[in-house]
Amino acid sequence: MSSRPLPAGTPPSRPRTTFASLAAQKAKGEPIAMVTAYDYPSAQIAEAAGVDIVLVGDSAAMTVLGHDTTVPVTVDEMLMLASAVRRGLSTPMLVADLPFGSYEVSDEQAVATAQRFVKTADADAVKIERGGSSVTRARAIIAAGIPVMGHVGLTPQTAASIGGYRSQGRTAEEALAVYDDALALQNAGCFAIVFEAIPTAATDSMMPRLSVPVIGIGAGPGTDGQVLVFHDLLGIYDGHAARFVKRYAELRAPMIAAVTAYAEDVRAHRYPQPEHGYGMAAAETARLQGLIAERFDHPRPWAI
Ligand code: KIV
Repeated sequence: MSSRPLPAGTPPSRPRTTFASLAAQKAKGEPIAMVTAYDYPSAQIAEAAGVDIVLVGDSAAMTVLGHDTTVPVTVDEMLMLASAVRRGLSTPMLVADLPFGSYEVSDEQAVATAQRFVKTADADAVKIERGGSSVTRARAIIAAGIPVMGHVGLTPQTAASIGGYRSQGRTAEEALAVYDDALALQNAGCFAIVFEAIPTAATDSMMPRLSVPVIGIGAGPGTDGQVLVFHDLLGIYDGHAARFVKRYAELRAPMIAAVTAYAEDVRAHRYPQPEHGYGMAAAETARLQGLIAERFDHPRPWAI
């Protein structure tokens, strides 16, 4: 957990999110608000908005790096983004996604990757996807002293092997398999679990036996909290939006309009105006013009 000072403007009454405070929120039925962030300004916005958890999601592959899936993003790219987010955050918990291919091979690989996120980006915790072998990886990372958030249901890193970007657990057997994964991750010591794209009724059937906070995205209102992707909720991302996305703003259109207006002003000589420039005393301007004239009247060989 970061010990950095709170940024200017942070209400003194707002405590940092801790693992204990998340558990207390669940116990009291106080919903947990989580959002993704990928850079310094988005982290500052999440901080100012007072969310509980910020996830540096591997959705960055799509939202900020322009890939079609989350698969290509690398550890180094995620570390750069997570470090920038850290610089903009103080009170929310910072969770970083371990990207595809950075933890599946062995427990040693998983621990080494997780350690990089703690050492380089000062992450409070890491998130890994799936049950199965990821349960062992989660246990190893936790044994190394790094808290882990699980992620079940639609797991985008392995979407190809689960039938694509579609909701999971739509039959009783499929839902039971998701439930088994969640229970195994809980037993492995995960402090929280993300449920992605799971039918509401399936979520509601699973919740009573889950003692750790469950954060939903497309899993209905019955979870302990919700997470949305920053660019989706602000209406910045141009790609396909899943049905669970609620847009709280449509910022893409005004952003395009503002850049268009700027380009038109440049082309029409409307920008910059005198107020956008720096002044120079008239005497200095006259002296400068004299010096320039002198240089051209008596050019030095190296200045020709
Ligand atoms: O990468 C991401 O943004 C995520 C959330 C959708 C939970 O994993």
